[in-house]
Order: sequence, then C-alpha cells, then structure tokens
Amino acid sequence: MESYHLKRIDFIFKNENDWKDVLSRALASDKQLILNELMESELKGRGGAGFPTGLKWKLTADEKSDEKHIICNADEGEPGTFKDREILTQVPFKVLVGMAICGYVIGALKGFIYLRGEYTFLMPELEKAIKEFEYYCKEINFKFSIKIFLGSGAYICGEETALFESMEGKRGEPRNKPPFPTKNGYLGKPTVVNNVETLAHTYTIFKYGAKQFYDLGVQYSRGTKLFSVSGDTPKAGIYELELGMTLEQFVDDFGDGDTKAVQVGGASGFLVPRKLFSQTIIGFKGKLEGHSLPTGGSMMLFNSSRSMFNVLSNYLYFFHEESCGQCTPCRVGCQVLLNGINEVKKGERSTLYLDKLLQLTETMKQTAKCGLGQSVANSFSSIVENFKEEMIY
Ligand SMILES: Cc1cc2nc3c(=O)[nH]c(=O)nc-3n(C[C@H](O)[C@H](O)[C@H](O)COP(=O)(O)O)c2cc1C
Ligand code: SF4
Repeated sequence: MESYHLKRIDFIFKNENDWKDVLSRALASDKQLILNELMESELKGRGGAGFPTGLKWKLTADEKSDEKHIICNADEGEPGTFKDREILTQVPFKVLVGMAICGYVIGALKGFIYLRGEYTFLMPELEKAIKEFEYYCKEINFKFSIKIFLGSGAYICGEETALFESMEGKRGEPRNKPPFPTKNGYLGKPTVVNNVETLAHTYTIFKYGAKQFYDLGVQYSRGTKLFSVSGDTPKAGIYELELGMTLEQFVDDFGDGDTKAVQVGGASGFLVPRKLFSQTIIGFKGKLEGHSLPTGGSMMLFNSSRSMFNVLSNYLYFFHEESCGQCTPCRVGCQVLLNGINEVKKGERSTLYLDKLLQLTETMKQTAKCGLGQSVANSFSSIVENFKEEMIY
C-alpha cells in the first residue's frame, strides 16, 4: 500500500536574513495592532499547555508595574522533545526578535532565555547572536537586553513558576497559582513565559500576517507545529506540520508498518493504541470530531517489539526521579506507582492492584500541586487500560 505523506511546511526553519527590518517595522507599529494580529492568528502556546499567546501578552501588557519581563522557556525537558534546541541553533534571531516584540508590547526592558542545563553547548553561538542583536537594538535606540540563564538539569524547572524560583536562586519548586505569571512572575513582576517555538511563530505571524498562520490547521488548533519524531520510525527527526492531522495519517507517514502505539506529548502525555489512531486528532481540545490530543511536539512511536510494561516503568522511574517532592500526592504517589507495577509484574501483587494504582493516579490528578504530578495519570491510565495483558504476563 502506498503511504500517505503529510505536507511539510517550512515557516520556522526558513532562513531569513531580514530580522533587522522585521524588528524595526514592529517597533514602529501600534502595540494594539500587534496584539490584534496575534489574537487573529489564534496562536496557542507550543510548550504544551496551549494557552492563547495574544491573550497572555495582553494580560501582561494591561498590568501596571514599574518592571516586567519576557522569558523564553528553553528548558525542553519533556522526554522525546528536541525541537527547541534546533530553533535556537538554526534561527536564533527569530526567537530574539519575538522576545523583543513581546518586550515592546508588554513594556519589558529585559528578556531572559532559560536554557536547559544540558544545552550548555548552545551558549557560545547563542551569546554571539545576542551580542549582534543587542548591538542593533542600541543602533536603533531600542532599550532591550537579553540574558541567558542556565538551568541545572531539573525537569520541573520547565514549569514556569518553578523556573522563576530557580532564576531567583531558590529551589526549583512550583508556586501556587493564582496569582499567575502575567500578574506576579519573575521577581514578583508581571512576566510572559513563552516556549521557544511560540516566540519563533510570533516572528512569522508578525512578518507575514495572521492570515497565513490562521489558514493552516483546523478550528481550535490553527497553524503549524514542530514535531520531534522518535522511536520505531525510519524518519526520526523534526518536522513542521499542520495541526489537526489524525494519528492514523501521522503513523501512515512516519510509522515502520508495525506501529502498535504512539506516545503523544512525551512522558506526561498519552499513549494511544492502534485501535484509536483514526479517531485521535493532534491538536488542542475543542469541539472537533474524535478525541483531540495536544502535544508540545514529542511523538514517540512503538512497534510490536516493545514491551508496554517497560515503557510505563521507564516513565514512572522518570517521574519518581524528577518529582520535586514538595507535595505528598506526587512525592509518595510516584514511588508507590513505580513499586506497584514492578510488584504486579513479579507476581507479588494480584492484578486487582492495578485498579488501586489507577485510583491513586486519579487522586494525584486532583490533588497534586502542579502539572508534573497531575499528568502522571495520563500515561499510566492510557497504558494500563489499553495494554493490561502486557502488564500482567
Ligand atoms: C513539569 C512541567 C515541565 C514543563 N517543561 C516545559 C519546558 O521544558 N518548556 C516549555 O516551554 N514549557 C514547559 N512547561 C510548560 C510551562 O509551564 C509553560 O506553560 C510554557 O512555557 C508557556 O509557554 P507557551 O504558552 O508558549 O507554551 C512545563 C510544564 C510542566 C508542568
Ligand atoms: S506535583 Fe510533584 S513536581 Fe509538582 S509540586 Fe508536587 S511534588 Fe513537586
């Protein structure tokens, strides 16, 4: 059977040498018009949660404060995600200009790139780009500077409020929300936190207009997205595709002919079994037909040679290691889940215990303080419910 090919798009990685013109044009534009353009594009955050970017900028712009910040979240810690480092390597000026446009709109004079600790090797080139960028800002009399803040390798520091704590020199532990960062962020000041890819999209949207972006994708999930494709696939790599494809289309294109499941959204996402490929749509939740799954870009394919038990215990080990330990449901829950499935596997517990563990993940979803503990239920329930027999034998 001939395989289906999703249309490749080249907005983000398209090499454009006109970033100075784009920045100058933005700084000469009305701030409200820039916000309108972003709202019309319906761009949603590409870091995973999908919050509308225009609204985030507007909420921060509306705050009265003597100081505001824009932070580019380059922590990229979700297992299976490797697109942000490529954006920063190949088209850093799109991100820097996106940050500057945000700074101009919200009234921030300082921007920060929170760079994943393991990406230290990106620093020399990135610093070179920032130097050139700041030199140009000076030339055109635009007061805006960008600093890189290097993380120390904790997954939780990608969560925006833990990221603030880390930047403030404290333990990287999530804060209570509300108040939200748009009101009370880095150093207690209104702050926009955007993913690297989100900022690169704002550059493209500003340069080409909202329509080009809006016309791609589907209702509730407009535009394109970068996907980090890995696992059992002959085409591992980074691809820019329209949102709104079904998982069946995705697997037709990227699978190895034997795909039994796809983990959408990394360890904190969902594992979708083959029987649900055709009804699963990659995009943000909305009133679309079928089941819509968002992803920060991680798409891991598994073929029939893979043990779903190993996949799950791997994720649980990851969560157990990365839980910041601040709240009991997550700190204790991750440990109990990891031990629990190992005990079931060894036959030390009856299979009924899996149902107890499922209940525990539900409790964690309701009571854990942040997205890490709340999302453990996603992979746990989707794997246990769809591959129960593999958990047992
Ligand atoms: C445990 C955890 C880890 C996260 N890691 C990242 C990350 O590495 N990069 C990222 O952009 N967002 C990450 N996020 C989401 C951020 O908190 C935040 O929603 C995002 O940076 C906002 O940017 P966006 O609106 O452009 O998506 C993480 C969230 C959680 C709960
Ligand atoms: S849910 Fe986990 S990672 Fe989040 S605050 Fe609680 S212990 Fe920390």
